[in-house]
Amino acid sequence: MGGTQPTEEYLSNTEDSHDEGRRDFIYYATAGAGAVGVGAAVWPLINQMNPSADVLALASIRVDVSGLDEGTQITVLWQGKPVFIRRRTVEEIEEARAVALSDLQDPIARNENIAGEVDATDANRALDEAGEWLVQMGVCTHLGCVPLGNAGDFGGWFCPCHGSHYDTAGRIRRGPAPTNLPIPPAAFVDDGTIELG
Ligand code: FES
Repeated sequence: MGGTQPTEEYLSNTEDSHDEGRRDFIYYATAGAGAVGVGAAVWPLINQMNPSADVLALASIRVDVSGLDEGTQITVLWQGKPVFIRRRTVEEIEEARAVALSDLQDPIARNENIAGEVDATDANRALDEAGEWLVQMGVCTHLGCVPLGNAGDFGGWFCPCHGSHYDTAGRIRRGPAPTNLPIPPAAFVDDGTIELG
């Protein structure tokens, strides 16, 4: 998938509104068939987005996460939708792993990287074994708003549209959203690069 020129995009981080120091990360994405730029990441509702055909056509993108500090996240566009990539703190991981399955509204992991319906344990949702990396769609499973990061009653994400609270593993814990935030196909291709798709 190499050999292409990366396109640099400056993308405002829509989640970390509570911490200016965590905003405005820079990322670039490279695509196998050629780099294609993506647009801004702020949308009131997902159904108001109108991704261009070239963006939709991207089967996979590569995201440089080497500059991402612990406790911060970036939002990238993949197939016209926002994807949250978070490098979690030890506390966030421990908090997520301490939750009993019986406390979850949606007990299914919703992880495309694992075949079948497996339990929504934190280990079944994190990208790596240590649980440092969480990659998930940034689209509320209720009606499609983009949730805010570092927010809500469970320290994860909060959707202000109708009040859905997600925990630090992106699992729905309170509110009208019916399912956990889905996890797209994702994998590390080297120490500092995640491929989506
Ligand atoms: S769209 Fe998120 S709670 Fe309704």
